[in-house]
Amino acid sequence: MSGFAPRPLIIAPSILASDFSKLGEEVRAVDAAGADWMHLDVMDGHFVPNISYGPDVIKAMRPHSKKIFDTHLMIAPCDPYLEAFAKAGSDIITVHAEAGPHLHRSLQAIRALGKKAGVSLNPATPIGQLEYVLDLLDLVLVMSVNPGFGGQTFIPAVLSKIRDVKALTAGRPIDIEVDGGVTPEVAGQIAAAGANALVAGSAVFKGGTQDSYKANIAAIRHAAGHARGEAA
Ligand code: DX5
Ligand code: ZN
Repeated sequence: MSGFAPRPLIIAPSILASDFSKLGEEVRAVDAAGADWMHLDVMDGHFVPNISYGPDVIKAMRPHSKKIFDTHLMIAPCDPYLEAFAKAGSDIITVHAEAGPHLHRSLQAIRALGKKAGVSLNPATPIGQLEYVLDLLDLVLVMSVNPGFGGQTFIPAVLSKIRDVKALTAGRPIDIEVDGGVTPEVAGQIAAAGANALVAGSAVFKGGTQDSYKANIAAIRHAAGHARGEAA
């Protein structure tokens, strides 16, 4: 047995990289192409230097897939909007540790809404932020780029951080998700470091067709699965 994550391998396409002019169709296409979760990036032009979409757009996507909606809030403040993102159909709501002074309160609020709670850490943020909120965590989202834009290059220093998060969360039912610059080339190292959920935007949506999405998802799954010692 290896020390790799026993939690299931999850490939979560980031809808940010899809064609927004046909959002429903794109969600159906990545669903049919083998996505495990839909990763939904919410940006406010304040916490991050870009604006994407909000709860009404997530609500509009919801009927197009039964898969887990994994909502990544890059907004500050986040607390006033948690209920709207829960009602829009999110299954997991992840907030940034850097987004406000009351992380524990935000996680309590997400759990009180009946949703799974995640914390995301920017590349420069130490994992100590997680230490006293472990009991409230369903997911840790380790950013492997500075958040705000798709299509950036994976930051290799994040690999040792994933190993540290894996050690900190050992024995708990917490998913470790990695987001930013994920490609089939780095997926193996990410999985070997201990992450089980891989977000990918440009690496999934390149090609622009359901067949290419299927091949792209399979390539990431194969690389990560191989590193986990699983047949792919
Ligand atoms: C970045 C977002 C990511 C992004 C990933 O702020 O959180 O989810 O869409 O895109 P790629 O996979 O292209 O780096
Ligand atoms: Zn994201």
